[in-house]
Amino acid sequence: MSTQGLDAPSQEAILGYYEGLRPFWHPVLPIDALPPAQPVGVELLGEGVVLVRLNGEVVALQDLCRHFQARLSLGEVVEHEGQQCLMCIYHGWTYDASGQCVKIPQLTPGREIPRDARVPRYQVHERYGLIWVCLAEEPRYEIPDFPEFEDARFHVGPLRAYEPWCASGPRMIMGALDDTHFPWTHEGLLGDREHPDPPDHKVWRDGPYLMSQYTILQPRNVSTADVTAAPDTGDGSDGLERITYTNYVGIPNVIRLVKDGDLSRQYVIWLAVCPHRYNQTSSFWYVARNYDRDPAHDRDYESFEDQVRAQDKRVVESQRPWLLPPFWTKIELPLRPADLPLIEYQKWLEELGVAVGL
Ligand code: FES
Ligand code: FE
Repeated sequence: MSTQGLDAPSQEAILGYYEGLRPFWHPVLPIDALPPAQPVGVELLGEGVVLVRLNGEVVALQDLCRHFQARLSLGEVVEHEGQQCLMCIYHGWTYDASGQCVKIPQLTPGREIPRDARVPRYQVHERYGLIWVCLAEEPRYEIPDFPEFEDARFHVGPLRAYEPWCASGPRMIMGALDDTHFPWTHEGLLGDREHPDPPDHKVWRDGPYLMSQYTILQPRNVSTADVTAAPDTGDGSDGLERITYTNYVGIPNVIRLVKDGDLSRQYVIWLAVCPHRYNQTSSFWYVARNYDRDPAHDRDYESFEDQVRAQDKRVVESQRPWLLPPFWTKIELPLRPADLPLIEYQKWLEELGVAVGL
């Protein structure tokens, strides 16, 4: 099938993507980016969401005033009957933390506030330095675990929040899950073209996680060895280290890559994406390591990951269709067994109804 004309997905495919991703937790904003008494608007799955701290809690509401649909994120936090509420800046309608309108300045005295004067409230949670929102009433899974975040044996670098890429969320997760691109996209950093053979992948499901594990040779650098120490094994003598990856994909939008090297060294990349729209996705990253735990060296690790990320960005942003084409279209030709992790990820997304149309 030709891919011509597939630049813009059909309305049906976009809605399927948004609906399919609604029942999951999505990271939308670093906690530190939400001021104490000022709302912030974010976009999640094509929907405006206003985040605001009211009475000491983060609240997420639909970012549309019920009156004339102005953005509530332009509003102000005000006191009303001893409670902090969010006031729309257009005509002063005021909403409590449940989304109920509790004050309409223009209401004729003696008239009740209309029962429909309320806006949807979404589930919200603070974890790993991020605010997470679920647009559905029941999240399908918990927020995926990041055990190194609370593990004293690891040093976790600062949270890094990146501007949106022009890509869909699954394409970005697949970019991190894919290893056979290492010698080509990341030659000299993560791969070596003298060793292009795909590793033997073990792939399986474990509760809400898709797991993939494999061992490969990678160039010696901050992500594979403690470069602050002298080489201590024969493995690094040819400039390559034997690394075992164990990847945990928290379906559908989080991935944690655990790189095991010699001497029980572990280097962990944690990445969660926020799908604003079908073709616009932000990402949040942490890097953790159980060696060279000096925070003064964080910048070395960050700049390594920034190089890798920049190499990935232009490739992932070039992929079309924007949304993962379902297997039945045969638009893409994933190979077995080399692409097994990606095939299994896509299979799962198709089961969830996330990647079903063009
Ligand atoms: Fe919000 Fe009128 S649009 S108060
Ligand atoms: Fe990559």
